[in-house]
Amino acid sequence: MAKLISFDIDGTLEVGDPPGGITMELVRQVQDLGYLIGSCSDRTVSEQQRIWVDHGIKAEFTVLKHRLNDVKDQFPADKYYHIGDTEADRRASLQAGFDFLPVDDSVVHWLNGLSPQWGASIARLYNDLAYLWPIISPPGEYGDEAAFFGDVVQELLGPERHILLELGVGGGHNLSHLTSDFDCVAVDLSPEMTYLSEGLNPGVEHHVGDMRDIRLERVFDAVLVHDAVSYLLTVQDLEETFGTAAAHLRPGGVLMVAPDWVQETFPDGWVYEWDREQEGITVNIEEVMEDPDPSDTQVESTYTYTITKDGETTVEVDTHVTGLFPINTWTELMEDAGFEVEVRPLPPNEGGYGSWLFIGIAGQGASGQD
Ligand SMILES: C[S@@+](CC[C@H](N)C(=O)[O-])C[C@H]1O[C@@H](n2cnc3c(N)ncnc32)[C@H](O)[C@@H]1O
Repeated sequence: MAKLISFDIDGTLEVGDPPGGITMELVRQVQDLGYLIGSCSDRTVSEQQRIWVDHGIKAEFTVLKHRLNDVKDQFPADKYYHIGDTEADRRASLQAGFDFLPVDDSVVHWLNGLSPQWGASIARLYNDLAYLWPIISPPGEYGDEAAFFGDVVQELLGPERHILLELGVGGGHNLSHLTSDFDCVAVDLSPEMTYLSEGLNPGVEHHVGDMRDIRLERVFDAVLVHDAVSYLLTVQDLEETFGTAAAHLRPGGVLMVAPDWVQETFPDGWVYEWDREQEGITVNIEEVMEDPDPSDTQVESTYTYTITKDGETTVEVDTHVTGLFPINTWTELMEDAGFEVEVRPLPPNEGGYGSWLFIGIAGQGASGQD
């Protein structure tokens, strides 16, 4: 999960009255590292929003000082900070359960030294344990599902060779079954997974980026967001991703979205165990999936990998936080983004998952819209 930093304006940001020691460029830099940022100030919400817009920064939140609590309710995060310059700032942040950081040279130094959030927030399976992905979920297991996606595009757009963008390509296992029939471009947040997919799918253009905000400035016939869409945690994440899809589709183009679970089918407390072996490495995987807080849109899967190589066994534990939304949320948000929506059941895949495919046909305003 990300960390969140709230900025007071007057006396804190360079654009405040009086100006503070934190430049807008520094805030932009912190946001680019994956931190959730916004403002909490005595200024009206519209004034705060204008400041961010004027500086080309898309703040996640803008609240009055006594509403800092709302930010915590709205944005699940590992850590909450508020940076300000007055005793009132300190009190407001402590009341809302934020760590208060007084604006001074050391806070500027701290902001300058922050490291990227995605290294920490990407699950270990897509980071230091990415080498396990081709072993525990091999490409051969994606053939049926990939054929289903390919058939949908050809049914809706005709049999010719179309250009397809996959957002959240992972190791490219699913994509590897589509490259013979489609011209493909791929995006993933994880450099490690992108590297794996590049190896499996030579000739496919790859980009490391976030499906919520990447803009390739090109238009495709089809956009696929397969199981990676499960890693979107909030309604805002979904809205942004559907915005990305709309921005990359020609009018009439096809969006396919395939979350692992929807709220209606989520098996709380599910335990699933399987074994895989490849080139002398054996892995036993146990997955336990739970919804610790049914009032939010997140669930947790804890994987225990027992890895045996050269007679030595190690055990690694990895928790994946994923989003869970009802079918209506998926369809309504896709419609809001300008898609005409159809829902079809997906054939169950090898992992026992099996859910729904949300198909969106892009409206006339689709390509280039933002
Ligand atoms: C289960 S893997 C995808 C596996 C893929 N279907 C395959 O065939 O190999 C999920 C992927 O989603 C990616 N991901 C998660 N959040 C993302 C985001 N916001 N933007 C882009 N990729 C994301 C992760 O880095 C990970 O590689």
